[in-house]
Amino acid sequence: MSLPDLFTPVRLGAIDLANRIVMAPMTRSRAGTDTIPTPVMEQYYAQRAGAGLIISEATQISDDAQGYPNTPGVHTPAHAAAWRRVTDAVHARGGRIVVQLWHVGRISHPMFQPGGALPVAPSAIAAAGELYTGEGMKPFPTPRALETHEIPRLVAAFADAARRAVVEAGFDGVELHAANGYLIDQFLRDGTNHRTDAYGGSVENRARFLLEVTEAVSAAIGADRTGVRLSPNGTFNDMRDSNPAALFTHVVGALNRFGLAFLHVIEGLDGPMAPAPEVERLAPLLRRTFTGPFMINGGYDRATADRALADGSADVVSFGVPFIANPDLPTRLRDGTPLAQPDRATMYGGDERGYTDYPAAA
Ligand SMILES: Cc1cc2nc3c(=O)[nH]c(=O)nc-3n(C[C@H](O)[C@H](O)[C@H](O)COP(=O)(O)O)c2cc1C
Repeated sequence: MSLPDLFTPVRLGAIDLANRIVMAPMTRSRAGTDTIPTPVMEQYYAQRAGAGLIISEATQISDDAQGYPNTPGVHTPAHAAAWRRVTDAVHARGGRIVVQLWHVGRISHPMFQPGGALPVAPSAIAAAGELYTGEGMKPFPTPRALETHEIPRLVAAFADAARRAVVEAGFDGVELHAANGYLIDQFLRDGTNHRTDAYGGSVENRARFLLEVTEAVSAAIGADRTGVRLSPNGTFNDMRDSNPAALFTHVVGALNRFGLAFLHVIEGLDGPMAPAPEVERLAPLLRRTFTGPFMINGGYDRATADRALADGSADVVSFGVPFIANPDLPTRLRDGTPLAQPDRATMYGGDERGYTDYPAAA
């Protein structure tokens, strides 16, 4: 039997992929100000349906989950109807698409919150730095710490959004965004979680919120349609943890019992996405710990991705930035066609420019 490469089909839980090239989730801020997906999004995702699997941009589970302008939701019938046009367009081209579910937690601002309320988080600790708001940069506010009795409502909101995404909007599954410093990650790491109830303190307690969300979402749509994304060494959004190896091996070991469709880990091999040389690499450890399909991300190209698949470091590889300016990325990787570079000025927000006007290779 030959070793797998990017063009070897694979099954992630209940989802069959024609190749192992996954489009990584990317916020592009082209939804309406009402958070409803727009027709240009339908075209954007359809253009990229040659990926074995598309993971959508991060998508709100509730009306208090938003932290950036023009990011979509999936928590009302109107959201689901608009997303249905996106998933139909991807499926019509033979693609597969899951929605990335997020709640941003403290990475928000009262201007995005119902009634101008403070954003919620595990603890009342502001992120250092400033937030992009669409009305200029603003300092991150100090969030309001969630009361213990509020947590079941959030868990249920993830499950409700997952059910709506699969049953009404036609997604093939969901990815839980537990990476990059948003709400679930804020619970996991001790830099942002100073709680003294059952959701804070020990590694077991800090993992509780993610595990409860995973359990509820798995019960709603099936664990074989549920994936989880982690960034164990990530520092984006002012994140830190005193012992990430202990935390994330516990988290991943505990996730094994669900039989998830996949685990998606962000840890670049080299370059700006990679951890500093003195930082212990966690992807290899988590690969050995996780018993299901393992997806890796962060600065991969054809050669490094094929090597990761051949040496067993991962079962699938996701590509983010390369998909922006190369809608036909799988074809280009197969043919060795040089990749176009995206215009950074149009990455977030705007219209079809820098979004759906990148051509496929001739
Ligand atoms: C414009 C842009 C938006 C992104 N939005 C998200 C997001 O919504 N959710 C997420 O988990 N990661 C997001 N990311 C991170 C990417 O999924 C990916 O981890 C990162 O780009 C590294 O992979 P790459 O080197 O293949 O691009 C975003 C990255 C970019 C460049």
